[in-house]
Amino acid sequence: MDITSTLNQIILNPNLHGLWLNTLSYLEYRGFRKIARSQKSASIDAEILFHAAEEVRHALFFKKLALKLGTNKFRTYQDSELLGDFSAKKYFYDIDTGVANLLTKDSTFESYILISWLIEVRAMSVYTIYNELLLAAGQTISLDSILREEGRHLEKLKELSSAIFQKTKLPIKAFESIEKNAFQIFWKEISRHTHEAIGEKLNLGTEINL
Ligand SMILES: [Fe+2]
Ligand SMILES: [Fe+2]
Repeated sequence: MDITSTLNQIILNPNLHGLWLNTLSYLEYRGFRKIARSQKSASIDAEILFHAAEEVRHALFFKKLALKLGTNKFRTYQDSELLGDFSAKKYFYDIDTGVANLLTKDSTFESYILISWLIEVRAMSVYTIYNELLLAAGQTISLDSILREEGRHLEKLKELSSAIFQKTKLPIKAFESIEKNAFQIFWKEISRHTHEAIGEKLNLGTEINL
């Protein structure tokens, strides 16, 4: 299942859509946590605070939408309340460990910038498709403001990553492959869970008809 057809099926099913929105909330929260944890208090400036505040606001934006679809079903980020169980957590883990293997131990700042850059590139691509599908499906949810803010984050992170690659001569393609592989595993699980959920719904319908 490609991204578009899976997302289309998710949008059509309120339970899957709630799980998906809560998963996006979780991913945004992890983005916030990465910023907060990667910096020593002494180096936190207004720009970092602003970025962290926007990510946590995005997490709350998706959380509120998820809660509208199921007040008690998407309260926390435990596996059963996310689409694909622990797949989103694994996505972060795979990127964190892959990037750590390419960097030296004391590269906290570089790690934060490069991981955030990889994830922002993916977020822009998935959010753009998702936003278009929401519009086509006549849903009232719009990601326009989030896309504007992510676009700004991405511009800044691209600039900072390029500076790191220029300075260190690290292989840019190796970093891109880490995220690509992690996302493929993540999306495979999202598609599998979506398909299973829809299959269950179809089976249930057949049983009722009989
Ligand atoms: Fe965000
Ligand atoms: Fe962002």
